[in-house]
Amino acid sequence: TILVLDFGSQYSHLITRRLREFNVYAEMLPCTQKIKELTWKPKGIILSGSPYSVFADDAPHVDLAVFDLNVPILGICYGMQEIAHINNTKVIRGDKREYGPALLQVEDKSCPLFKDVDHSKVWMSHHDKLSALPQGFKVVATSDNSPFAAMAHETKPIYGLQFHPEVTHSVKGKELLRNFALDICQANPNWSMENFIDTEISRIKKLVGPTAEVIGAVSGGVDSTVAAKLMARAIGDRFHAILVDNGVLRLNEAKMVKKNLTEGLGINLTVVDASEEFLSKLKGVTEPEKKRKVIGNTFIHVFERVANEIKPKDGDEIEFLLQGTLYPDVIESISFKGPSQTIKTHHNVGGLLENMKLKLIEPLRELFKDEVRALGELLGIPHDLVWRHPFPGPGLAIRILGEVTPSQVEIARKADHIYIEEIKKAGLYSQISQAFAALLPVKSVGVMGDERVYAQVIALRAIETTDFMTADWFIFDARFLKRVASRIVNEVDGISRVVYDITSKPPATVEWE
Ligand code: XMP
Repeated sequence: TILVLDFGSQYSHLITRRLREFNVYAEMLPCTQKIKELTWKPKGIILSGSPYSVFADDAPHVDLAVFDLNVPILGICYGMQEIAHINNTKVIRGDKREYGPALLQVEDKSCPLFKDVDHSKVWMSHHDKLSALPQGFKVVATSDNSPFAAMAHETKPIYGLQFHPEVTHSVKGKELLRNFALDICQANPNWSMENFIDTEISRIKKLVGPTAEVIGAVSGGVDSTVAAKLMARAIGDRFHAILVDNGVLRLNEAKMVKKNLTEGLGINLTVVDASEEFLSKLKGVTEPEKKRKVIGNTFIHVFERVANEIKPKDGDEIEFLLQGTLYPDVIESISFKGPSQTIKTHHNVGGLLENMKLKLIEPLRELFKDEVRALGELLGIPHDLVWRHPFPGPGLAIRILGEVTPSQVEIARKADHIYIEEIKKAGLYSQISQAFAALLPVKSVGVMGDERVYAQVIALRAIETTDFMTADWFIFDARFLKRVASRIVNEVDGISRVVYDITSKPPATVEWE
């Protein structure tokens, strides 16, 4: 295992990801991790980049004990500057920022880190730089702007890179990380998704023990389904999945999830219809963040009630809560500083633990979305479910602008269903990252069969993105949009007009609320 110490760079999580691509397992911990508290010995350590300056008063610093472990160390960007700083070399603010591609000149071809890596494009993203080479180090590579683009210690396996090998824009970045992990650290390339399933199932069995029971919420999405299937494989019916129908799910969703999970996947599932409770709490609520809060709180309330009603057969206790948390969520919560500014509070079930005294199981906490999908396929989850677009926890409530009422839900549901059905028919579903219909709280005039109508507007949204942090709107063929608009206006009562949202993110967000 390689230890990645995270100083908060936006790219940190990519490091572990890249290492897994050549089957090396890495664990990422906050940079402030005390080495003596580690329960395992890493084969090597990577210090990540950071938005900080090493010379700033509030800059995060690494536990110096990492250098006593006598294992190879690789500093990336801030990580390299941290190595210099520790070795009494001044890091200074450069005259210009260096952001974007740079051409790397390899000066020392004998350096094992640069095996099979020659002049190539790398990705720079820094403002600070080394004022000089730290004592005992030599230059291994340069770029036009960085005389110390890469450095290595003369005798010890300590390396620094000013650029980011973990991003795909660094053409030979993966080779550099591979050289470090496999050759220099001699890490075992024994990580694979099949192994992951086996080790995760035995880890779960050991953790839960022979009698304890586990509950977990499922949503019909890929993350919670994969987590639930893994759990069912590990402990069978001692895992209790709960689907809370909050009244703002998609058309026929609860039925479909029941069928897929129970019949298809053999998961022990209880469906709770709490629509009325949710919709009555949402009465009169129009503010988006308030909707999220109401739904989040009601969810916790309903879930706890149902969990208390589930009585394991032989008097066993429910001791654990399953969550389908993915790696990017974990990073945000364990980082040494709080998460970045909240644009929208995403619905989660974090509040559950405090009231229920449950211990948390998060079998997907090491994985990225595409890895979860690969795992889902291996676990035999139907392809359509594995590749489903994401759906927000607060559901249609944040796609119905203004007050959420049963009749508004019905309109939004029908329109969305038609839109997605047409997308699938046109073979476009997998090219789009997320698509949905939003119901606007305005009325517009139309004419249908000689009659004036005064009805609401549906806005169609479809985006392409890899990380949902930025997104571009999807370019449909105009004939496709024409077909969808015509179907929605004809088939959905209460709609007289359809528009297509052509805003990217930023400045707009994906959801309308
Ligand atoms: P935004 O609208 O923030 O959406 O650009 C980015 C992604 O997050 C989803 N989203 C949510 N998911 N609870 C969720 O579970 C929420 O409150 C929430 N708000 C947005 C959105 O669907 C998109 O995939």
